[in-house]
Amino acid sequence: MSPDDLKREAAAMAVTYVQPGMRLGIGTGSTAKHFVDLLAERVRGGLKIVGVPTSEATRAQAQSLGVPLTTLDETPELDLTVDGADEFDPGLRLIKGGGGALLREKIVASASARMIVITDSSKRVERLGRFPLPVEVAPFGVEATRRAIAAALKSVNCSGEMILRQTSGGATFVTDGGHYIFDCSLGVIPDAEALACALARVPGVMEHGLFLGLADAIIVAAPNGVEVIGSPERRTSR
Ligand code: A5P
Repeated sequence: MSPDDLKREAAAMAVTYVQPGMRLGIGTGSTAKHFVDLLAERVRGGLKIVGVPTSEATRAQAQSLGVPLTTLDETPELDLTVDGADEFDPGLRLIKGGGGALLREKIVASASARMIVITDSSKRVERLGRFPLPVEVAPFGVEATRRAIAAALKSVNCSGEMILRQTSGGATFVTDGGHYIFDCSLGVIPDAEALACALARVPGVMEHGLFLGLADAIIVAAPNGVEVIGSPERRTSR
């Protein structure tokens, strides 16, 4: 089974948790792309749902496949968000933002009663930090913000190279919200909650890729089968 086949398996299981009438948050990335494909199949079969996309790329895909869309302005409370992740630990904590959509992804997941994460087993770690942590920043004063982020990292015993993300063509990567991203190679994050608080205090940081306390379940596709960690059907209030 190829890595892409595994992503599709995880997405296929997530689609089984979608119920008629749901207001969905729709994630971004190569795994979420499969979810949109499979969701669209069910919509063509008569399923009534409405979705809020977490990126312009997802919006374009969903629109092209006829998935009904709304916005958080029209529909500020969602039932379920399904999204990918770059890394997850046994406490259902995530690093996200490899695709650059972390700000919208976090807003959408936070507006949702439940979040199901779809991944393959390569994303599993004992402790977060192997994947470079994306930190989305305002373009204004970016060098001052870089220094403030470095100090915030140091204050919670994290360190590592910070790279301003670029496109394959060598231009500075710009998010859907018009921001830049620093990818912070930390290796290991000793205390993810402390790091999240430290980063949130830095002026100029729009959002960071630590998703803590948001995922209710993680669907992990591996060559020997699909595992569900957590409670995909539990309703939580946040
Ligand atoms: C997008 O910004 C990310 O958070 C993605 O959800 C994450 O990078 C997972 O992407 P893949 O499914 O492509 O691995």
